[in-house]
Amino acid sequence: MSARPSVLVFGSVNVDLVMRVSALPISGETVLTDDYQPLPGGKGANQALAARRAGADSVFIGAVGDDAHGILALALLEQDGVDLSYTVKSNRNTGCAVVMVDEVGCNLIGVASGANQDIQSDQVADELIDQAGVVVLQQEIPIEQNLRLAQRAQHLNTPVLFNLAPATHVPNALLNHVDWLVVNEVEAAFLASSPQQEDITHIAEQLADSHHFNVVVTQGPGSVIAVVDAQILTFPAPAIQAVDTTGAGDTFVGYLAAGIAQGDTGTTHLERAVVAASRACIGLGAQTSIPFGDEVNLL
Ligand code: RIB
Repeated sequence: MSARPSVLVFGSVNVDLVMRVSALPISGETVLTDDYQPLPGGKGANQALAARRAGADSVFIGAVGDDAHGILALALLEQDGVDLSYTVKSNRNTGCAVVMVDEVGCNLIGVASGANQDIQSDQVADELIDQAGVVVLQQEIPIEQNLRLAQRAQHLNTPVLFNLAPATHVPNALLNHVDWLVVNEVEAAFLASSPQQEDITHIAEQLADSHHFNVVVTQGPGSVIAVVDAQILTFPAPAIQAVDTTGAGDTFVGYLAAGIAQGDTGTTHLERAVVAASRACIGLGAQTSIPFGDEVNLL
């Protein structure tokens, strides 16, 4: 075990308005459904909760509005013991996502950032970065705040795990501070400027080579390809009947981060992350379906 077993997640927190629909709408189409559920979500918050459920001490740093959604958005993190001491209130509304989920668990998501735009890297003290086993970043907050935090983490020798989701242009200045990149196939092809049909292992190797970091590519319900210390690894995902795939990638990131922070070497942390992400697809909602550590071995 490392002396720094905590996961520090800097990122977004939302309320997800989750609607089950018989088929996802196409452009210009309206679909009707009976009801919706407001549930806690947001990539950063989901990842912090997953790390906690994987057994790590987890700190979430974000921004919520001073509104009812702000309370709901943080409820599960609070209940599960994620440290929220550095999460602040903003004058904007709490971030909100509209999540439509079809009958085979596929989704369509739109996010209004709201309070997530007000997150500041100086909410995080150097001491906290120094004590963390890994700093986790994603892309639903202003990129310059991610850049500042990544620079400070590198300066303090704390590894940075960057989840390029959703995919937008990222400056090399940020990528230069990254130790682990986690992406899905679409995000990997976007970053490598490759056609999506190109072999995903080749894209992963290319990214690892040109940026000198470890790369993990998640492939929906399929396998996970990783290039770790220049070695190519493949992990098949267990077969499941998906109800809702929302947050599966975040569960993967949180479990992987917990393994890194706890000093796991070898491939156990990647294998657990793959199983946890599959397990997260068999219930509705991003956070509500993140499995606890003891459920992950049961699948
Ligand atoms: O990754 C899933 C998350 O993306 C949802 O919880 C939603 O809030 C969006 O941020």
